[in-house]
Amino acid sequence: MTSHSVRISLHPEDHRGEVDRRLFGSFVEHMGRCVYTGIYEPGHPTADEHGFRRDVADLVDELGVTLVRYPGGNFVSGYDWRDGIGPADQRPRRLDLAWRSIETNQVGTDEFLRWAARVGVEPMMAVNLGTNGVVEAAQLVEYCNVPGGTHWSDERRRNGSADPYGVRLWCLGNEMDGPWQTGHMDASTYGALAANAARSMKLADPTIEVVACGSSNHRMPTFGYWESTVLEQAYDEVDYISMHAYYQEHDGDRDTFLACGVGMDRFIDDVVATVDAVAARKHRHRRLGISFDEWNVWYQSRFAGSINTDIDVSGPRIEDVYSTLDAVVVGDLLMSLLNHSDRVRIACQAQLVNVIAPILTEPGGDAWRQSIFYPVATTFAAAGGHSLRARVSAPTRDTAGYDDVPTVAAAATHDPETGDVALFVTNRGADTEVTVDHGGFGSWQVRSAVTIAADDKGPLHGADAAAQARPVDLDGARTEGGVTMLRVPAESWTAVRVATRAG
Ligand code: AHR
Repeated sequence: MTSHSVRISLHPEDHRGEVDRRLFGSFVEHMGRCVYTGIYEPGHPTADEHGFRRDVADLVDELGVTLVRYPGGNFVSGYDWRDGIGPADQRPRRLDLAWRSIETNQVGTDEFLRWAARVGVEPMMAVNLGTNGVVEAAQLVEYCNVPGGTHWSDERRRNGSADPYGVRLWCLGNEMDGPWQTGHMDASTYGALAANAARSMKLADPTIEVVACGSSNHRMPTFGYWESTVLEQAYDEVDYISMHAYYQEHDGDRDTFLACGVGMDRFIDDVVATVDAVAARKHRHRRLGISFDEWNVWYQSRFAGSINTDIDVSGPRIEDVYSTLDAVVVGDLLMSLLNHSDRVRIACQAQLVNVIAPILTEPGGDAWRQSIFYPVATTFAAAGGHSLRARVSAPTRDTAGYDDVPTVAAAATHDPETGDVALFVTNRGADTEVTVDHGGFGSWQVRSAVTIAADDKGPLHGADAAAQARPVDLDGARTEGGVTMLRVPAESWTAVRVATRAG
């Protein structure tokens, strides 16, 4: 392999503003084993008095997740939240149409929101706009957020929560542009419904923020048209537009897979352009944020046709096992989110446990970290403060899927309070000498540098194998004269933590 040199320039004044901590989110859907035998398993040796697994809660804590979206996903579009409240032994067993499962409703709104409070994450709730509508959505806000003295708030009190939950973030349905969605509708119908639901939900609690469904992915035939038609009707009522994207390696095209971050960059740029065009047409100064509330690596080609036709209770669904290459790509996708943090305010890696997840569990047994756990936990722990504009000078190349792909990508944050800098580097090519120009910072002490290099081993099955993806120290960082030299391995993701304040 040949090597080439690359320069990254960082300056404390050259930033996009604050990174919203809600960028470090995840997603729990009633799907497969995410809830049942994932976060919740009464009878498990580590289960707490509520039936939730402590071993999983500990890993969620280590992951550093700040926000969790719930209860779907496609599941929410057929879900009646009223089935999941009250005495657990009186709750109905329902056929979940999205995943052809039996939903036992042993976990519902109260159980989830109490779990979220115990593990210290902000909940983001989705309402069903597929088979339910405005009334049920507003009533769920009433149930969660009105202190008392009304039918649904008193019902919550009777169910054991005297204080309101104060859920601030609400998704107006899920992927309503997708023909697979229960209750799928056209853009204009959804735009009117989203505006009405948002108005009613905000009448129940004026402090909430709501997310309108954008396109389910960049390749949807209605992409662009969907966003502008929906927002033509709902712009003034909503606070965010959603984005979803899943990536995978197709037919061994490793170069395109390693360039997914470029695909994510371009998808975000296209959504920003589309929603800002609506704002311009409407003469609005207020700009919508983006809620990237589903993103990850997901081998959807393995999933096609794999949904069991046998209806069962929490049978496995899409339990992808990840490789070191997937970990590098996940690190790179997080960098794309950081590099758009002026507009992307919320993001959720989908999903948290078992279902295309950083955490896997065995029913009755262990819980462990998949390879993709490591870049997520490292980024969530290191990034914070302002998102710096990392100016990268690197060669570009075309891949089958994307043109002009820089061989090296970078993202960085700087916390002006602590002086801490986090620098993230993806190397999509051969091993490379990277020169980081940070003269504008004055003091610059590299505290740690760790890297994950992709290998050819493929999916790492089991806890021991997956631990091989743990980041290793990147030796040899040299700082002198306002620059730091790093040698980053081929096809790798690297995180560097720096102190810029003496002490
Ligand atoms: O995360 C799995 C599924 O992917 C979600 O239910 C859906 O919203 C998306 O298509």
